[in-house]
Amino acid sequence: MDFLRLQRPRGGGSGGGPGGPGDPNDPHRLRRNPLVWIAVLGAIILYTVYDGGLPGMPGSEDETRRRIDQITDVGGPFELTDHNGRAVTEQSFRGRYMLVYFGYTWCPDVCPIDVLVMGQAVEMLGQVGDQVQPLFITVDPARDTVDALAIYAANFHARLLALTGSETEVAAAAAAYKVYYGKGEEAESPDDYLVDHTDNMYLMGPDGVFLEVFPHGMRPSEIAHAIGQYL
Ligand code: NI
Repeated sequence: MDFLRLQRPRGGGSGGGPGGPGDPNDPHRLRRNPLVWIAVLGAIILYTVYDGGLPGMPGSEDETRRRIDQITDVGGPFELTDHNGRAVTEQSFRGRYMLVYFGYTWCPDVCPIDVLVMGQAVEMLGQVGDQVQPLFITVDPARDTVDALAIYAANFHARLLALTGSETEVAAAAAAYKVYYGKGEEAESPDDYLVDHTDNMYLMGPDGVFLEVFPHGMRPSEIAHAIGQYL
């Protein structure tokens, strides 16, 4: 009996009767193990990044559909600066499709996924995808300088252009796209804050006219398919 006890797994020795904390059959055991949750989170992130989104995010499918159906005419003039320091306007991209996303480089979760998805969608289109210019427009110009955007853009896609500007220029661009953004509370220092923002991707035609919106959560393949219909 003592011998058997010694052979038990760690934690199963004392006080760990059936159903107790050390019992491998205890249904609560998995939930208590932080490693399990780390693995689950990792799997969710991998799934989200490589194959699209999480079902039911950010709202139900119906809710998302309703939200998206309300978006009919977005876009318009903007005057911004790209991550190479060049002045650009909406006219700079005439004759090409624009895939436009508003976000910020400090965004811890949604933006990196969406920008990765955007790059993958463009990549999936192959050579015809060259007609599409992916654009990341910051909603946080205070922190997203030209240099910050240059580093950010390089991490995602070779053809991604990241745009910034003055507070006024960024506000005008966001207004043209009916994009909401709002700075959250500062945490430990003045430059430590989140920015809440609309997380749609907009496809604009070569004439600058709005074609389609892709909400957060769509798979790169779905986006690529939808864009491919126009090319
Ligand atoms: Ni974001």
